[in-house]
Amino acid sequence: MTAKKEPAEKSAKPAKYLEIMGLHVHYGNIHALRGVDLAVGRGEIVCVVGVNGAGKSTLMWAIAGVLPVTEGSVLLNGVPLVRPAGRAVRPHEIVNLGISLVPERRRLFSPLTVKENLIMGSIRRTDREGIAADLERCFSLYPVLKERLAQRAGTLSGGEQQMLAISRALMSRPSILLLDEPSLGLAPLVVESLFETILKIREEGVTVLLVEQNAFQALDISDRGYILQTGQIVESAPSIELIENPLVRKAYLA
Ligand SMILES: Nc1ncnc2c1ncn2[C@@H]1O[C@H](COP(=O)(O)OP(=O)(O)OP(=O)(O)O)[C@@H](O)[C@H]1O
Ligand SMILES: [Mg+2]
Repeated sequence: MTAKKEPAEKSAKPAKYLEIMGLHVHYGNIHALRGVDLAVGRGEIVCVVGVNGAGKSTLMWAIAGVLPVTEGSVLLNGVPLVRPAGRAVRPHEIVNLGISLVPERRRLFSPLTVKENLIMGSIRRTDREGIAADLERCFSLYPVLKERLAQRAGTLSGGEQQMLAISRALMSRPSILLLDEPSLGLAPLVVESLFETILKIREEGVTVLLVEQNAFQALDISDRGYILQTGQIVESAPSIELIENPLVRKAYLA
């Protein structure tokens, strides 16, 4: 089991850095999110656990401003990001506000090299020194990327591709990182070391919202967890309690 580390200066943080209230999303007639309420405090790692089709990716795309919402709101530090009526904040503006999404299945630029993918992550920045410092930060998290700078992203192993996807997202210097099923398709040992790095990313001051089918490992590294079932939150508690909850164990940890 991974050693969980306490977020620093917990008491000084606002209770709700990212706040989602009554969020509904439809795909035509399909009602994918049905009134989701969720909050993430600054410096927390929060996970949302759910099976296939529960609505995890829909939630992530809605926060990132890519999917229109039918009802409800998303606030970052009290500032509304998405709303059903009026002009929603656009995805690139959401990145500028400090939210960065690592999408499901990585979605790297496969023909491009590792270095080019990393540079794409910083495309909206002009602070060359900051970009160089953040590249070094990624290399210290994932040294293998430095060895593979000239390799095409599509030829990396699954684990390396996930490291690159997370690093690319970090290159926009987010205050909150959204991770959509980073463990997908990876061997358990690779997942364990990848999740260790999520703890390190939090130690560097980045807040993390993680969605996963891999309930045990997600709950193991997170502070609090939510259970998403057919578009609705059915349970939320400190992760340590969810791991012990018999219903959660039966449905998600068996
Ligand atoms: N583009 C789309 N058009 C229509 N329905 C969609 C679309 N994308 C997702 N859905 C539906 O919305 C629901 C939620 O899907 P979503 O991809 O958010 O689930 P998920 O929890 O991420 O699943 P998985 O673990 O398989 O990634 C599902 O019923 C899915 O079929
Ligand atoms: Mg998904």
